[in-house]
Amino acid sequence: MTDIEIRNVSKIWGDTVAAGDVSFAVPSGTLTVLLGPSGCGKSTILRLIAGLESASSGSIFIGGKDVTDQPAAKRNISMVFQSYALFPHLTVAENIIFGLKVRRVGKAECHRRLRKTAELLGLGDLLERKPSEISGGQQQRVALGRAIISERPICLMDEPLSNLDAKLRHEMRIELRALQQKLKMTMLYVTHDQAEAMSMADQVVLLNKGHVEQIASSEDIYKKPASLFAARFIGTPPMNIIKLRASGGHLVIDGTEHPVLPNGDGRTLVLGLRPEDIHLVAEGGHEATVRSGEYLGADTLLDCALGSSRITVRTSHVRPPAPGTKVRLHWPREAQHFFDADSGLCRNGLPAVI
Ligand SMILES: Nc1ncnc2c1ncn2[C@@H]1O[C@H](COP(=O)(O)OP(=O)(O)OP(=O)(O)O)[C@@H](O)[C@H]1O
Ligand SMILES: [Mg+2]
Repeated sequence: MTDIEIRNVSKIWGDTVAAGDVSFAVPSGTLTVLLGPSGCGKSTILRLIAGLESASSGSIFIGGKDVTDQPAAKRNISMVFQSYALFPHLTVAENIIFGLKVRRVGKAECHRRLRKTAELLGLGDLLERKPSEISGGQQQRVALGRAIISERPICLMDEPLSNLDAKLRHEMRIELRALQQKLKMTMLYVTHDQAEAMSMADQVVLLNKGHVEQIASSEDIYKKPASLFAARFIGTPPMNIIKLRASGGHLVIDGTEHPVLPNGDGRTLVLGLRPEDIHLVAEGGHEATVRSGEYLGADTLLDCALGSSRITVRTSHVRPPAPGTKVRLHWPREAQHFFDADSGLCRNGLPAVI
């Protein structure tokens, strides 16, 4: 068993709640992504699991055993640090095999694994250089190599691809995911890049200011965001958030008289719509005005005014209509997401009018 579980873990630095009552589990042999904006507590949680920081409260379990009070060396985890943490006086090769030497892995085995790892990471020509003689992206790959070569069953990775160019990053995330699946590693992977998270994860743990906002599969977090924060953080361009106003017995799109919901319990709600769920139609729908268009090749993004809200519509039109053009927008009822404007919590399941 190599699963990880953290229960009600908090880490407080003075006034900062870096992690506040965080609980989640990473099942054995799966990949969980810790996702969230800068400063939300991702590295702190990883360091707590690795045993490099001690929790203010809560418990950490690895393979079903409580390791909360165990030192890092006893946790049998490999980790890629956000800061790389390479030894400056050792060569690339020595940095990569350092951990194996400490564990007294045989010379032939060390070299076999070094060749394989260097090939995977494209470091073959740099093995004799010192960290100061290679680029930031190459240093990051050395840090990654050190974790991969250990072939430990649990791996924690803190933004391991952040310094690579877009193409290499894309290739590496496919390679990493394949490696994790092949070796059936239990991996906790930190990133602030939602596309990276969505493409790699079995499970996403979305963090906001030290707190868990939502835990779900990539598909569920996209299709059923539990809060306004999740709705806006996942997806590019982000979900449109449209103001609603009480008018008569209904909630209508603010700036229009289009009813969306019966005016239920008097709470202030907003309507969320993904850009790709909105379609241009010849008649019916809601009138909107094009403000600008952006042609992106595979699709075109239209920035439109709908009542008092500005929204983005993703279409496959080759030429965006000129600014000022009136268009009609339609979206299916099931594409509508409702959120409480004050708490930000999802209020789906209300009886919609359209
Ligand atoms: N040693 C420390 N002392 C005091 N505050 C800290 C310490 N380490 C982290 N923090 C604070 O805790 C919060 C969470 O930091 P953390 O490094 O976990 O964020 P992160 O999500 O990894 O951010 P990033 O994406 O920028 O790496 C931040 O507000 C940070 O300033
Ligand atoms: Mg960090």
